[in-house]
Amino acid sequence: MIAMEYITFALGKGRLARRSLELFEKIGITCREMEDKDSRKLIFVNEDLKLKFFLSKGPDVPTYVEYGAADIGIVGKDTILEEDRKLYEVLDLGFGKCRMCVCGPESAGELLRHRDQIRVATKYPRIAKDYFYNKKHQTVEIIKLNGSIELAPLVGLAEVIVDIVETGTTLKENGLVVLEEVCPLSARMVVNRVSMKMEQERISRLIMDIRRVMEKEEQQR
Ligand code: PRP
Repeated sequence: MIAMEYITFALGKGRLARRSLELFEKIGITCREMEDKDSRKLIFVNEDLKLKFFLSKGPDVPTYVEYGAADIGIVGKDTILEEDRKLYEVLDLGFGKCRMCVCGPESAGELLRHRDQIRVATKYPRIAKDYFYNKKHQTVEIIKLNGSIELAPLVGLAEVIVDIVETGTTLKENGLVVLEEVCPLSARMVVNRVSMKMEQERISRLIMDIRRVMEKEEQQR
């Protein structure tokens, strides 16, 4: 008999990973090793189910999955769009819901309407470029930042930003507003293209089990 191969999961560190593990628990997938918060281990194994899990920075999850270092990844749609890796997006997990938006001071709305050549600060240059160039046909200068994007219009680096809006609190506390919506976002499951063929049965079953749990939760709401 051929020994069963491991299926490896790459999870984006933080809230997304916690929500993913909660979801897995509901379909009977647990990983005791991961519950030890003091552990410095990087890879966690469930020997019975032949599963491995590792945590990585969100933007690296699609990279691990494209190269097959992980068979399955759980990551935000923002990261999937920005990284643009060769992989299958198989499931919207329904959590981590937020929006990618163009934001700025109210007065910047006029600049967007007139299609002025403005500066756009963002952690997501690919998404911003696609939105302004391909959807809006507006020439802009895109400035890549690595965080605290809301600062940019406050200190005069850019007229607007393209960033994630969840509760809207950060915008509100800094006198900024949503000017346009780029797209809705949430956590997604992605699968390596070869793994999808080689482990079709196990991966399809996993997707079906998760779907069933999600449907049940939807009905109870
Ligand atoms: C994200 C995002 C916004 C904020 C939105 O930043 O970039 O700044 O959360 O959330 P809200 O609408 O609920 O206020 P994050 O905290 O991830 O850190 P960052 O600024 O370093 O990107």
